[in-house]
Amino acid sequence: MKKRLTIKINKLSLNEMSKIKTDCLVLGINSDKSLNKNVLELDKRTEGSIKRLQKKDYLKGNIGSSGYLAAPKGINSDLIYLIGIGKSKEKLSMEKAKSILSSMISSILTTKAKNASIIVPDMKVEGQDLNWVIQQLSYLAENNSYTYDAKINKKDKKVISLKKIDFYISSSPNALIRKSLRIGQAIGRGSNTAKDFGNLPGNICTPSYLGNQSKAAARKYKNLKCRVLGEKEMEKLGMHCLLSVGAGSAQESKLVILEYSGGKKGDKPHALVGKGITFDTGGISLKPGATMDEMKFDMCGAASVISTIQVMAELKVPLNVVAIVASAENMPGSKATKPGDVVKTLSGQTVEILNTDAEGRLVLADALTYVKKFDPKTVTDVATLTGACIIALGHATSGLMSNSDKHASNLFEAGLKSQDKAWRLPIWDVYQKDLNSNFADIANIGGRAGTITAACFLSRFTKDYEWAHLDVAGTAHLSGPAKGSSGRPVPLLSQFLLDKA
Ligand code: BES
Ligand code: MN
Ligand code: ZN
Repeated sequence: MKKRLTIKINKLSLNEMSKIKTDCLVLGINSDKSLNKNVLELDKRTEGSIKRLQKKDYLKGNIGSSGYLAAPKGINSDLIYLIGIGKSKEKLSMEKAKSILSSMISSILTTKAKNASIIVPDMKVEGQDLNWVIQQLSYLAENNSYTYDAKINKKDKKVISLKKIDFYISSSPNALIRKSLRIGQAIGRGSNTAKDFGNLPGNICTPSYLGNQSKAAARKYKNLKCRVLGEKEMEKLGMHCLLSVGAGSAQESKLVILEYSGGKKGDKPHALVGKGITFDTGGISLKPGATMDEMKFDMCGAASVISTIQVMAELKVPLNVVAIVASAENMPGSKATKPGDVVKTLSGQTVEILNTDAEGRLVLADALTYVKKFDPKTVTDVATLTGACIIALGHATSGLMSNSDKHASNLFEAGLKSQDKAWRLPIWDVYQKDLNSNFADIANIGGRAGTITAACFLSRFTKDYEWAHLDVAGTAHLSGPAKGSSGRPVPLLSQFLLDKA
């Protein structure tokens, strides 16, 4: 378990700013020449150093710019960062506001500061208030200070010195503000838990590992229960579609069931279902070699649901939630499923597996049928399902598909609020015929709209409840120099559930 940052929130009286004893002080500076009251106070205390720098255009104050003062006299802080926050009266989009808050945190993290103080800027954010600012800021404090500690080469290991942050606001922090801080921090920690699962290599993070870690989480929280089904049990139930994916692997497939009961007894749960392919070689429909290593991230959907349910437990959210993880390793072994094989799903429908690389939908099909036994209020599945989703939406936005306008819009709104955004794609009937098969009820691939037909496949198993599907192939992990898991969509899912409670 990672060490928690200590985050406190305090009221700042202007004349006390110079007394704040901290390694690193962070303030917002506007782009108009008139300084806000905090910066003005700082300028006064530091014998006009701000105005002097401003004249030389060193401190511009536009969004995306920043400057600093080192070891200033008259102030009890070693380092002062001034982060541009734009025009003083400007209404900021949530996107811009988040980028400012993120810069504030990141400026601290570029230093060796053990503790830091942020004077929370008085920003006007479209549709949001100070609670939102504080929730984002504490989320970003945890999220941005993530490090992957299992790295074998310890020499260049990134070290975060930061242990404590104080937020300063101009009013006395009330209970709601403190709650927002706690929520943001828990979501940030949940994202980091998900990142660790994603970043671990496929030889460690196996289906059994996901099961064991889920059991460990259940031991930690009183209201969290865990059950793990193995291949024998799934065989008995008739989950042949899920089992067909792991058939070529020496690793045993698992179905992980986590139940959080924070709500009233008998209240229907909200269900989260995660794709947990711990490595996706493509199977007999083998993937090309370049960047195949990134298919260790194919369990990021599972990571997000295991982590989100822990966020709920941590915050003791008054809600019942069930998380189900459909986990297998997709390998081309001698017992592997072959293109053209037909399997029977738990629902009774048969599937012709035309491409063994379209395996995510196969494990999800049975999990989405299994989840019915919980009589869920809503079901949301999360999966790194299609490369096509990256073509459609890039790495900024998750794909959202649903059989319910209400459920879709609830998730969409939660995405905006958390700034972990998703955008809806249609799953109209016209796409369904792309999945016609001559040899089974349904084929596992078809058509040109890959993200949509994948969701159409899932929709064949979700007719009995309000369901949405999040395709996080582009958002759950990044490639290139920033290669690694992002922790998404833990913020979106957590916000969705918090809004329901
Ligand atoms: N896990 C992949 C999707 C993926 C690709 C996620 C790239 C992240 C980055 C999925 O199992 C897959 O292989 N999908 C195929 C589907 C195709 C065979 C219809 C794809 O997208 O190519
Ligand atoms: Mn695949
Ligand atoms: Zn996959």
